[in-house]
Amino acid sequence: MGHEHYFSSQPTSEPDTREITATLRGRDYRFVTQAGVFSRSRIDRGTRLLIDALRLPEYGRVLDLGCGYGPVGIVAAREQPQLEVVMVDINQRAVELARANARLNGISKIDVRHGEDFSVIPEQDFVLIATNPPIRAGKQVIYPLLAEAKDHLLPGGILCLVIRTKQGANSLQKYLLTIYPRVQTIAKGGGYRVFAAYA
Ligand SMILES: C[S@@+](CC[C@H](N)C(=O)[O-])C[C@H]1O[C@@H](n2cnc3c(N)ncnc32)[C@H](O)[C@@H]1O
Repeated sequence: MGHEHYFSSQPTSEPDTREITATLRGRDYRFVTQAGVFSRSRIDRGTRLLIDALRLPEYGRVLDLGCGYGPVGIVAAREQPQLEVVMVDINQRAVELARANARLNGISKIDVRHGEDFSVIPEQDFVLIATNPPIRAGKQVIYPLLAEAKDHLLPGGILCLVIRTKQGANSLQKYLLTIYPRVQTIAKGGGYRVFAAYA
């Protein structure tokens, strides 16, 4: 990746396209990945913990915030076909891969948008926002993003996120409690924690 971050808006590195496979929640998936996107060689351990921990509603709108090449939103759409899944990423290459990967995994109805934060997400009626947030972008990016998520959730909606325990999980939990009335740890393992914050 050289100097390029996985959250570059327009990666310029050679794509070096690959296909990876993964079994998630007991089902097999294929994902095309490229250089310049997050965790291109395998599903990230934190992402896997998040996917396993998600309590997916049957109906309503779900947002995969910072979708990368798409594992979280694609699993949600396949597990609960009635859900309206929206995915967003700042990285154009990730957006194109997420669209291709949805098709590759038999999902025709998926809405993947290119944009920063909530700039292209006007909806305020999500039942679930799931994210493995771009911790490397720094607290000054992540904290406001996770706070803004509350404005896009229905009352009782859930923000579900994964963070490495050593990358500030305790302080993030304290911060979330200043915004969301209830925050629970719903999964732990491999040095990661999954939080559910209730709007
Ligand atoms: C840790 S990665 C997770 C990717 C994917 N969900 C996964 O679990 O494999 C975070 C993602 O957030 C995206 N991102 C970073 N900053 C963003 C922002 N301000 N708005 C939207 N997406 C952003 C990055 O491009 C990256 O794909």
